[in-house]
Amino acid sequence: MSKTILITGASSGFGLLLANSLHQQGFNVIGTSRNPEKLQAAVPFTVLALDITDENSIKEFTNQLFVTINQLDVLVNNAGYMLTGLAEETSTEVGKLQFETNFWGTVNLTNALLPYFRKQKFGQIITVSSMMGLVSLPMKPIYAASKHALEGFFKSLRFEVSQFNIKVSMIQPMWAKTSLGANMISVNGDIIEYRQFKEQTNKYIKNSIAEGDEPALIVNKIIKVINAKNPKFRNIVGKMAGMVLFLNNHAYSMFEKAIHKSVKTAM
Ligand SMILES: NC(=O)c1ccc[n+]([C@@H]2O[C@H](COP(=O)([O-])OP(=O)(O)OC[C@H]3O[C@@H](n4cnc5c(N)ncnc54)[C@H](OP(=O)(O)O)[C@@H]3O)[C@@H](O)[C@H]2O)c1
Repeated sequence: MSKTILITGASSGFGLLLANSLHQQGFNVIGTSRNPEKLQAAVPFTVLALDITDENSIKEFTNQLFVTINQLDVLVNNAGYMLTGLAEETSTEVGKLQFETNFWGTVNLTNALLPYFRKQKFGQIITVSSMMGLVSLPMKPIYAASKHALEGFFKSLRFEVSQFNIKVSMIQPMWAKTSLGANMISVNGDIIEYRQFKEQTNKYIKNSIAEGDEPALIVNKIIKVINAKNPKFRNIVGKMAGMVLFLNNHAYSMFEKAIHKSVKTAM
């Protein structure tokens, strides 16, 4: 029997490509979106409505999901967005919204599905974190914090649910060419002293996304993790991922120097 895979945020980027690829490979795919009618009209896999920031939406979604399917093999927590802005210019209110989606939305959906996975005595939870769950960049303090928080949550969860044969993995992509940049929320503060640094950093990030990996690279990594017998917790992916993690772990001052230089020279 082919596996049933649930993918949040299946309307664009990694989620859409992953859902289409798995559907083509014969998996039973359920994708979610906050605008399900629009997405369902354009794709061959089943689409259900879900806003992960809304606990009622999660409740309704979960009830509907188990009317649609009998068992769930894999949850791919993919939905998320990127908040960009200096630490000093980002209000608590705006920062909390980032956590409502990237952290609490992901955590609440996972917790809503865990009773089903436990009852089945098997399941797999794969969460699309980011290389920014392991390292950080300027202008991304809250985005990086939300991804670091996910890493901590799921590391703990992996210990707790292995006894029920539930496997927990993270995917840490580098920059990739999706709609993440276009859907990004930007904080526009006006602290004059940062003006040049902000302009340079924005150029650096824009260039990094434009030169980023093809989304297929990340999607293939997720499919590898789905097919793995003993999936690892950490799954970094991207042309530069190995080097970045090496510098972060073993030569942090070199990593910092390289980022400062890239920001200063960005055109
Ligand atoms: N692209 C990169 O460079 C990169 C690198 C590392 C990590 N990531 C991570 O990869 C994941 C996917 O991003 P992407 O690059 O594919 O971006 P994307 O093209 O902007 O797709 C984001 C998806 O998230 C969904 N979403 C956003 N807020 C949601 C909410 N409140 N409830 C439910 N769904 C929501 C959107 O669905 P609807 O609008 O249809 O609801 C959309 O399908 C994110 O978690 C992102 O942080 C991306």
